[in-house]
Amino acid sequence: MSDLEQLRTDLLARIGAADLDALEGLRIEALGRKGSITELMKGLGGLAAGERKAAGQALNALKAVVACAIDTRRATLECAVLESRLAEQRIDLTLPVRPLAQGRIHPISQTIEEMVAIFCQMGFSVAEGPDIEDDFHNFTALNIPPEHPARQDHDTFYFPERADGARPLLRTHTSPVQIRTMQTQPPPLRIIVPGRTYRADHDATHSPMFHQIEGLAIDETTHMGHLKGCLIEFCRAIFGLDDLPVRFRPSYFPFTEPSAEVDIGCARSADGLAIGAGGDWMEILGCGMVHPKVLENCGIDSTRYQGFAFGVGVERVAMLKYGIPDLRTFYESDLRWLRHYGFLPLDVPNVATGLGA
Ligand code: PHE
Repeated sequence: MSDLEQLRTDLLARIGAADLDALEGLRIEALGRKGSITELMKGLGGLAAGERKAAGQALNALKAVVACAIDTRRATLECAVLESRLAEQRIDLTLPVRPLAQGRIHPISQTIEEMVAIFCQMGFSVAEGPDIEDDFHNFTALNIPPEHPARQDHDTFYFPERADGARPLLRTHTSPVQIRTMQTQPPPLRIIVPGRTYRADHDATHSPMFHQIEGLAIDETTHMGHLKGCLIEFCRAIFGLDDLPVRFRPSYFPFTEPSAEVDIGCARSADGLAIGAGGDWMEILGCGMVHPKVLENCGIDSTRYQGFAFGVGVERVAMLKYGIPDLRTFYESDLRWLRHYGFLPLDVPNVATGLGA
């Protein structure tokens, strides 16, 4: 066997047995700058012209065979490494997933969505208006003139007087949105207005900011029977009690005539409050037939149109429905409270599915 053949047999045998590290060593040993094949090639110059060609071809062939053997061996080894990693690190799909940190829907948002779902199924649509109002929309147009005592009842938050003498205010109820709607849309109207309202009050049952849902229905034949039917239906739907006792108690609001407050039946005992049958009543909303002056203030002909309006406090409903004892906890942003009383995002009702199961 010639030296070259010997070298070839030797190298190929070692390549065939090498691991990845050894393979790199072998490449340098044979083909590197001072490698055995490289050195032989450098020696070609010293050969006689006649021998040089054949020796050169033989060396080139050897170099190509060795380089190819190294590449093939490397590919085989790398492939084996990958195979074994894939076998070892396979994902176990039977393991339970780690729980995802999930936010909660605030009970106020949930209660608003529930009320909106009920009224939208009756054909009302949602309207909105600004929290910062003017005297006209919050009071005057609602038949509450400047000297009227109801202005004091409302404990209004006023902003500083502006250059033109106007004093903007935080709306004390959602009723100004009735005015804005009647000013811009011709009857028939059927709207509900969820939103924030503000009064200078703060104790266990009053917060300076709270939520109301206003309702307004105006048409040529809308009457007190519609008002009663709509609100009895609402009270029973929101508390999920088909036989919930509901009563209308005469009351007074400057913007409705006649006016009423609505009470629902409940039982009070040492264990707390139970909504439904029982000897007691609990007030839950104010309502009435829209005062003709309010219609006229908005440019609606009160000899042709009439309608009803109502205002429901969202906090009161949420507290009763979900057994939340203290109003102030709604606004404390205590995450433990929210995890306890909050709702999962997919439990929120919508107009298509109603309150769900
Ligand atoms: N705006 C009244 C309040 O805040 C509620 C109400 C609305 C009463 C509509 C009658 C009609 O007290």
